[in-house]
Amino acid sequence: MPRPARDVGASPFIKWVGGKRSLLEQLRPHLPPTYGRLFEPFVGGGALFFDQRPKRATLGDNNARLIATYRGLRDATDEVIRLLKSYRYDRDDFLAMRARAIDAESDPAIAAWFIYLNKTGYNGLYRVNSRNGFNVPFGSYKNPAICDEPTLRACAAALRRTDLVAGDFELVTRKARKGDLVYFDPPYVPLSATSSFTGYTADGFDSHDQLRLRDAARALAARGVHVLLSNSSAPAVVNLYREEFDIVQLRARRSINSNIEGRSAIVELLMKSRTF
Ligand SMILES: C[S@@+](CC[C@H](N)C(=O)[O-])C[C@H]1O[C@@H](n2cnc3c(N)ncnc32)[C@H](O)[C@@H]1O
Repeated sequence: MPRPARDVGASPFIKWVGGKRSLLEQLRPHLPPTYGRLFEPFVGGGALFFDQRPKRATLGDNNARLIATYRGLRDATDEVIRLLKSYRYDRDDFLAMRARAIDAESDPAIAAWFIYLNKTGYNGLYRVNSRNGFNVPFGSYKNPAICDEPTLRACAAALRRTDLVAGDFELVTRKARKGDLVYFDPPYVPLSATSSFTGYTADGFDSHDQLRLRDAARALAARGVHVLLSNSSAPAVVNLYREEFDIVQLRARRSINSNIEGRSAIVELLMKSRTF
């Protein structure tokens, strides 16, 4: 018997660089057994949120089109699905869609635009030029699922009671209270960054932003908010967090050139506030 849509597990409805899907098993044991509201200020594809489906959550990202996509899916699910069903996997259609001036349109139109480009563009990448024009090339797929209706409906149901905020992480976490959980998953410090740690920018997030993030995490923990924060294993990250956070190593993925014993897993770090 087919399962009703609400029973389909929610998992991210978009591919997202840096998505945490493959790390969920290692992340789950570090969540506090109970918490109030979940805040995810760098939500991206929302792997942890869709895995946990908490009763109350605030999701944010400074990619305004991504947040409009979440809003469109939450508030106008049928319309988003109707639009996606009308779109075809075709190079000319893709190029026309890519060129649309999407920001003036409604949330469901932005959502369908965003999801279509994510499913049909090269590697599911999101990349824009200096005028915020989407510029990822057409992707080569056998039969991309432009409209995965069960997943979209399950995600819409999970989003129903969420607050969605387009903006910087500091804005998103402003209302976090004692006993809430904040999971920060920022653009990572490059592994090549030196421990002096200045003068680089990855995804528009520079060393000043990493410091600002550390200070925000510290302030939240000081008021009793549980904080979990992912980052790379660059020495700069250890320097930033070692005094006030517990640092756990997670095995991110095996490198392609793993040695014969298969031990060359890439390590990344999970910082935990001492509030748990
Ligand atoms: C590593 S991704 C998050 C991945 C996500 N946890 C997932 O599972 O898909 C980082 C996200 O941070 C967002 N971002 C970058 N700078 C930001 C800022 N200053 N404030 C809020 N979000 C930001 C990016 O748009 C991106 O979606």
